Amino acid sequence: MPILTNKVILVTGGSSGIGRATAKVLGAEGARVIVADLQDQEGEKTAAIVNDTGGDAEYHHVDVGDYDQVKTLVAGIVEAHGSLDGAFNNAGIEGPTAKILDVPMEDWDRVVRVNLTGVFICIKCEIEQMIRQENGGSIVSTSSAAGLIGIPGAASYNASKHGVIGLTKTVALEYASKNVRVNAVCPGFIETPMLDRVTDASEKIREQLIKAVPMRRVAKAAEIAEATAWLLSDKSSYVTGVSIPVDGGWVAQ
Ligand SMILES: NC(=O)c1ccc[n+]([C@@H]2O[C@H](COP(=O)([O-])OP(=O)(O)OC[C@H]3O[C@@H](n4cnc5c(N)ncnc54)[C@H](O)[C@@H]3O)[C@@H](O)[C@H]2O)c1
Repeated sequence: MPILTNKVILVTGGSSGIGRATAKVLGAEGARVIVADLQDQEGEKTAAIVNDTGGDAEYHHVDVGDYDQVKTLVAGIVEAHGSLDGAFNNAGIEGPTAKILDVPMEDWDRVVRVNLTGVFICIKCEIEQMIRQENGGSIVSTSSAAGLIGIPGAASYNASKHGVIGLTKTVALEYASKNVRVNAVCPGFIETPMLDRVTDASEKIREQLIKAVPMRRVAKAAEIAEATAWLLSDKSSYVTGVSIPVDGGWVAQ
């Protein structure tokens, strides 16, 4: 039985990697998927992949760091489809690999704007709609294993991902009594274009990363998608305020 039948679900960062894989799983689970991103051609491709495999998806351009754009997007979804039942706030960017003394202020601002302010804006606009609906809603944001532990050389990214977890807990408490659940997923090393960029597509760097993972492999993006689909579904109806590592055991060490 599909677990997301008739649910209207927004996926940000849906043009690539984890977002695209999640759009596919949500579509297969019966959701009407709203793919949103900055990369229009790739976003249209995600929607086409979902539609070609029997799902129901459409693409919209959005910059998650822009409050007016996100507000307009959510209003448009509700006007067209009647509700916003779930959201996967997943758009994100990597930061520079450098110690804090070598991180220019512009890099800090750029990373925090997308990874933390972007999630703040999305959650704010989504909850505003969800508390008006009888069935409430479920929100999942993408933090990271880097949101749970310190990693030297990644101050902006780590701080932004730790921030997502704090935001998740706080907003979950604020709206727990309004039938809106707010959770996060914390991916470890996942096979996506971002991982290729961070490792310079080097097998040697990748092998070093894998040594740190108890399961001794990177994950497929679909493995994050499955955890996310469960959190977005009514199967997780008593779960709120948690940030679940999906990391092959990395942060359990
Ligand atoms: N790949 C990993 O190993 C890994 C690990 C932990 C967490 N994450 C997180 O997972 C999420 C998805 O990453 P991915 O690996 O799929 O990367 P990716 O680069 O493949 O995909 C990220 C997507 O976000 C979009 N995006 C970036 N800025 C945006 C903005 N301002 N507005 C709208 N869309 C925007 C990009 O266009 C892209 O399509 C990110 O939040 C990332 O930090 C990834």
